[in-house]
Amino acid sequence: MQSFTYYVPTKILFGRGTESQAGAAVRAEGGRRVLVLYGGGSAQRSGLLDRVTRSLEEAGLTYFLKGGIHPNPALAFVEETIAEYRDRGVDFLLAVGGGSVLDTAKAVGLGLRDPEGRVWDFFTARRDPADTVPMGSVLTIAAAGSETSDSAVITNEAAREKRGRNTPLNRPRFAIMNPELTCTLPAWQTACGAADILMHTLDRYFSNVPGNETTDALAEAILRTVIRFSPAALERPGDYEARSELMWCGSLSHNDLTGLGRGKDFSVHQLGHELSGRYGIAHGASLTIMWPAWARRVRPTDPERFARLGRTVFGVTEGAPEAASLACIGAAEDFFRRLGLPVTLGGSEIGLLPQAELEALALGCSRGRSRSIGTFCPLDHQGILEVYQAANR
Ligand code: NZQ
Ligand code: ZN
Repeated sequence: MQSFTYYVPTKILFGRGTESQAGAAVRAEGGRRVLVLYGGGSAQRSGLLDRVTRSLEEAGLTYFLKGGIHPNPALAFVEETIAEYRDRGVDFLLAVGGGSVLDTAKAVGLGLRDPEGRVWDFFTARRDPADTVPMGSVLTIAAAGSETSDSAVITNEAAREKRGRNTPLNRPRFAIMNPELTCTLPAWQTACGAADILMHTLDRYFSNVPGNETTDALAEAILRTVIRFSPAALERPGDYEARSELMWCGSLSHNDLTGLGRGKDFSVHQLGHELSGRYGIAHGASLTIMWPAWARRVRPTDPERFARLGRTVFGVTEGAPEAASLACIGAAEDFFRRLGLPVTLGGSEIGLLPQAELEALALGCSRGRSRSIGTFCPLDHQGILEVYQAANR
């Protein structure tokens, strides 16, 4: 087994009605003046925002409200919020929503404590952040795993660039996870969330570091659980069992339990971020478009790895690695289709792209030919371009 450091200091409050503990949780972390961030309206419509603010009032906390965060959250909103709250003594950020709201809170926290006030520098790796405002969340969708991750992903809409930043400063202090809150999710968001959970696990599963059977077995269990319960959540949106399994898988898939120092691949995420940055497509859908093309391209690196995934997760019965690995990719593709998600560009809202757009995607993803992506089978600019071309059908 490889050596690793594992430290995930996020307190989890999981179960029905846990949002009523928001005020106490903030207070326990030392927060007194709280900026509550939320999205485009679902938290208001469901009454969640009222319940959360009541809890803050009961805990004797001062709070400010700022909503309007949209999926693939915008740098402009982050900068506006930093400017608005820089001098208002905010000492805690509470995100009520999904990954977009949580990531906005993380970016706002870094920006509020940055004397230079140029938060985008942290996402382009021009500078490292030194401090942040602590944050916690009331999660409303099982998907991004931001509730326990050290990552934030923001879109610079003017530049059409979506960039992530990993830093221990991004790790939330607590995550309030009431699966009932996710019962109002539309089918599309439920499916996109399930795909994202699968991909956080797969982007770590494809590793060249051998050994660590425990980690492989945990990853396969998460994948099987999502494959079992996401169709159930689509058929019965109010199914608490299904919603709770998905919600817990969402956190476990992205708190690095299934990575543990063996080198993340994350090529599919990098490829997908370019699609979202340029065309605004939902994160989960960007991943299911790119995974089949990526998988077929890198499969020769280690067909047995794909064959094992097929056997343990997708019920593939072929014995020989060559046939089993191909069957595995086909089975995964079928499952994404079953969730109602696209598996090609042509089958998505983006549509077939001209060669010039594919070139622009590859240039963005390779940062102008300056980097390769992935660890399982590193892809340079040409490799990246070929994967986009393969997805363009
Ligand atoms: O804005 P509202 O009205 O709340 O609607 C949202 C939004 O339209 C809706 N929604 C959320 N909870 C709901 C609900 N609708 C009804 N009932 C509910 N309970 O769902 C839509 C999507 O919300 P969003 O926050 O964008 O979803 P998700 O959690 O999938 O987050 C996606 C973002 O997270 C980033 C993605 O790139 C994307 O920008 N990621 C963040 C990661 C991280 N920080 O660790 C890792 C991921 O790989 C990912 O990159
Ligand atoms: Zn993701």
